[in-house]
Amino acid sequence: MSQQDRLVIFDTTMRDGEQSPGASMTKDEKIRIGKALEKMRVDVIEAGFAAASPGDFEAIEAVAQNVRESTICSLARAVDRDLEHAAAALKQAERARIHTFIATSPIHMQYKLRMQPDQVVEQAVYAVKKARGFVEDVEFSCEDAGRSEDDFLCRIIEAAINAGARTINIPDTVGYAIPEEFGHKIKTLIERIPNSDKAIFSVHCHNDLGLAVANSLAAVTNGARQVECTINGLGERAGNASLEELVMATRTRQDLFNIETGIDTSHIVPTSRLVSSITGFPVQPNKAIVGANAFAHESGIHQDGVLKHRETYEIMKAEDVGWGANKMIMGKHSGRAAFRSRLEELGVTFDTDAALNEAFARFKELADKKHEIFDEDLQALVSEAKHATVSDAFKLISLESHSATGETPTSEVVVSLNGEERRSKSDGSGPVDATFKAIEVVAESGANLLLYSVNAITEGTDSQGEVTVRLEKAGRIVNGSGADTDIVIASAKAYIHALNLLEVAAERQHPQNDGV
Ligand code: KIV
Ligand code: ZN
Repeated sequence: MSQQDRLVIFDTTMRDGEQSPGASMTKDEKIRIGKALEKMRVDVIEAGFAAASPGDFEAIEAVAQNVRESTICSLARAVDRDLEHAAAALKQAERARIHTFIATSPIHMQYKLRMQPDQVVEQAVYAVKKARGFVEDVEFSCEDAGRSEDDFLCRIIEAAINAGARTINIPDTVGYAIPEEFGHKIKTLIERIPNSDKAIFSVHCHNDLGLAVANSLAAVTNGARQVECTINGLGERAGNASLEELVMATRTRQDLFNIETGIDTSHIVPTSRLVSSITGFPVQPNKAIVGANAFAHESGIHQDGVLKHRETYEIMKAEDVGWGANKMIMGKHSGRAAFRSRLEELGVTFDTDAALNEAFARFKELADKKHEIFDEDLQALVSEAKHATVSDAFKLISLESHSATGETPTSEVVVSLNGEERRSKSDGSGPVDATFKAIEVVAESGANLLLYSVNAITEGTDSQGEVTVRLEKAGRIVNGSGADTDIVIASAKAYIHALNLLEVAAERQHPQNDGV
């Protein structure tokens, strides 16, 4: 198959996805997601924005050390400091890419950059050349290309390719484009730019009008050979084009696209669950491919048709995207070595024996309550074991809640605050409400609760409930998560986790701030 027939999948869950409020990921979490993306055979993983903060830098470095099959990429504005940070973070990567960008739309150049178009071209060329001094594989993006003039795009892209960019990315940064128009733009650029054959054209579409996937596919039809996307469509504002939808659309409609990705689709659902559990962003039940209802047939007519001949109503097989792949992998008799080895396969390692022992003790406790332990249970358990490494200013020591028909629910908690145990009791409209109020009496955080959600991690009523609590304080947003077979306890854990995250939430540089 020729180069033209291969669609490069560029995942930016850990960079653009991380720009969703509250979706920030720790270094360990990024390693786990990186490993899952590598298993799925994603071509390029954008692991972050190295210049954003020391934490981002270290996370990219760690992903580069641990993920060897995919190309690892860091974003960098077209400025010296960003390019140098990106290069340094990627030093140990087997395959490294620097993705540098500058805004090219009249509105961004005038009001954000306060630069003349000539200066923008000069800065872009400078950045691409400097990036090429560090790595072979350089991608250049024209931020807000969707609203940029074609003449100017042709000029700056030709110059960027001459300077050494091997991938040219056309982002619809504000999600403004419409498929036919966007497809036409890609075709025009490829036709008009004299050296366009020296680069792969890529697109990066945002979902503000719900068109990110449609726009990306229109671009593919018109010659784009890389799509930038995220798991579950996570990303800034309404998100990015979703990886699972793009991959399955091009695969299911091979007849139209005549293009192949290298993706092993059987890892899609487990990776979706992993990203949801780490970020605390639940997947809506009717979400294409990875939503709980995506392959569920409710109506009698549909069920009858599917039983007679599956293709009457199903265009894809659930098992092809990893539904049903969650096998019972461990139980109460599994030992520490098996536990450790399975976690290693999932990309999880522990820095100390004590940390491993603590996680193993939690596993045994869970196995007593729930006989079949799945990968998803292990992922949730590990997330919790790692919560303490964020901050343990707040710790849940005990919880007793009471609810009965006709009575006001109450909850009594003991919370340790910087090592000092405090007890409080509260009532509420339900046991979760009462629990949160009781914790607040001790914590006095004054944070606003933005979101509370519960999802069953696996099937059955013995499943663990995974709770997300999104808190906001002074403009900082965090997502706490907690899992337990008792959802009131899971809720309390999630609230405490969010409080600890607020303690350490650090200012990070946003990549799309004026960096020039
Ligand atoms: O949306 C966008 O334009 C981006 C760029 C930095 C590629 O995320
Ligand atoms: Zn973006």
